[in-house]
Amino acid sequence: MSTHPQICVAYHSGFGHTAHLAESVAAGARSTGAHVHLVPVDTITDEQWHTLDTADAIIFGSATYMGNVAAAFQRFAERTGRRCIEGTWRDKVAAGFTNSGAKAGDKQSTLISLAVFAAQHHMHWVNLGLPPGWNSSAGSEDDLNRLGFWLGAGAATDVDLDAASVHPADIETCRHLGARVAAVTAQLRAGRDITEAA
Ligand SMILES: Cc1cc2nc3c(=O)[nH]c(=O)nc-3n(C[C@H](O)[C@H](O)[C@H](O)COP(=O)(O)O)c2cc1C
Repeated sequence: MSTHPQICVAYHSGFGHTAHLAESVAAGARSTGAHVHLVPVDTITDEQWHTLDTADAIIFGSATYMGNVAAAFQRFAERTGRRCIEGTWRDKVAAGFTNSGAKAGDKQSTLISLAVFAAQHHMHWVNLGLPPGWNSSAGSEDDLNRLGFWLGAGAATDVDLDAASVHPADIETCRHLGARVAAVTAQLRAGRDITEAA
């Protein structure tokens, strides 16, 4: 019988907006009973590296800077080189989220970078699992997935607003991602239990 999955949210946020969304991702995962750890990658400790290594799933998040992940996230990614070679994170579940100033902001590149990072670790990428919001005359900016991503959760926060002003629809979209990853991880663990017992 599987226990609840262990999920890490490993993120970088320079000014707090993406950190706010990381909390939402974590809250979504916790709502399913998962055990969740938040790991700010720029200050990662040895204990947090261990938590990543033993997690069932890692949800990666980065603010979009210059149309890609922030340098601090990439520094973290490059520090995982040995784990990549040794397959430490192989077959863990992965997903990603990002936040930018502009509504589009070239942040698709950030999600792609996160997905490629996960693929290099032989992880299983989970997509957002929501239809695009705000894409018809009946839609609104309060729709879930209001910016219309499939690969992961994409948020936008006006650059002159503080972290507490992250858009409520983006918060809900990130909660959804966290819950979805937790559910998929639980399904995968249950399947592994069955195949190992057979
Ligand atoms: C160095 C730098 C580069 C940025 N590049 C982009 C960008 O390419 N596209 C965009 O829409 N916003 C860009 N922004 C705006 C940030 O994505 C936005 O302010 C975001 O909310 C920051 O998230 P954070 O508070 O988690 O760091 C940039 C901000 C900085 C500081």
